[in-house]
Amino acid sequence: MIAMLTAYLLCTRKGGVKILPLSPVKHRYSKVQSDSGTLVKPNEATGLSISCPSELIDLDRYPIVAQDSESYQQLVASCRKQLKSVGACVLPDFIKTEAVAALAKEAEDMAPKAYHNTLTGNAYLTELDQSLPSDHPRNWTSTTALGAVAYDLIPEQALIRQLYEWDGLMLFLKDALNKETFYRYADPMGGLNIAVMKKGDHLRWHFDQTDFVTTILLQESQGGGEYEFVPMIRTPDNESYESVKKILNGSTEGVLRLDISPGSLVLFEGRHSLHRVTPIEGERLRLIALLGYDTRPGVVSSNYLRNIRYGRTV
Ligand SMILES: [Fe+2]
Repeated sequence: MIAMLTAYLLCTRKGGVKILPLSPVKHRYSKVQSDSGTLVKPNEATGLSISCPSELIDLDRYPIVAQDSESYQQLVASCRKQLKSVGACVLPDFIKTEAVAALAKEAEDMAPKAYHNTLTGNAYLTELDQSLPSDHPRNWTSTTALGAVAYDLIPEQALIRQLYEWDGLMLFLKDALNKETFYRYADPMGGLNIAVMKKGDHLRWHFDQTDFVTTILLQESQGGGEYEFVPMIRTPDNESYESVKKILNGSTEGVLRLDISPGSLVLFEGRHSLHRVTPIEGERLRLIALLGYDTRPGVVSSNYLRNIRYGRTV
């Protein structure tokens, strides 16, 4: 059974998986000091064809299919350590360079299918509380603006969809996030999304209502689009409203910035870490694959959420 599973995970990759000593996974975030963006070269189509989604991944650096190996255990331990310390884990160059170009190209091609929405709300993604003062964090409001290509609009042959639907990746994420059970999100629109952020788009400061999110950056904008967060600014027992208020009012105290580039896999626990994405600058789209999972099977979105994200319910 184990041999069958291993064979399935490896797919038809010729020559098996080469295991090298794991490169140390450095912390990929820095203190916020300036608003300067990072420029990268434009992506070009590569016409990549694969026989197994594992071919998209740098398996030498991230041996996610060699689950019995010491390197795999080190990788999982490193992910868990980063998550425990700051609620975020970045695996740079998780996707091979040539594959990133192909993934970015197909995401660009899908971008016109994105439903774009601008929403105003608070950092808690809840109704405002009129019983609290107007300057209370729960009554602070700002906007979030972005587009999303829904799962049902992503072609079955798309590389990113093949990667998302591959159990090898899911099993690694289950281990890295240290979950007992792990399933792909069952929503026909929400399972896999391509977030499309154009000039001026942004995510306001907020806390997530889910325990974790998994993303792969496919293409950077020319400027802006910085992922900023304040690790564990609140806990289940303490909302830390005064600290949250300072951030909402513009303080950069304790704010970290994720150091990510196209091809980075990011695991982020945003329920207790306030976070945002700064406004996109330049004409090039910022494209991010959002890979949806849940610790329970069969979970789907409400019609309310579907309407907000995709402008439709079916
Ligand atoms: Fe979030």
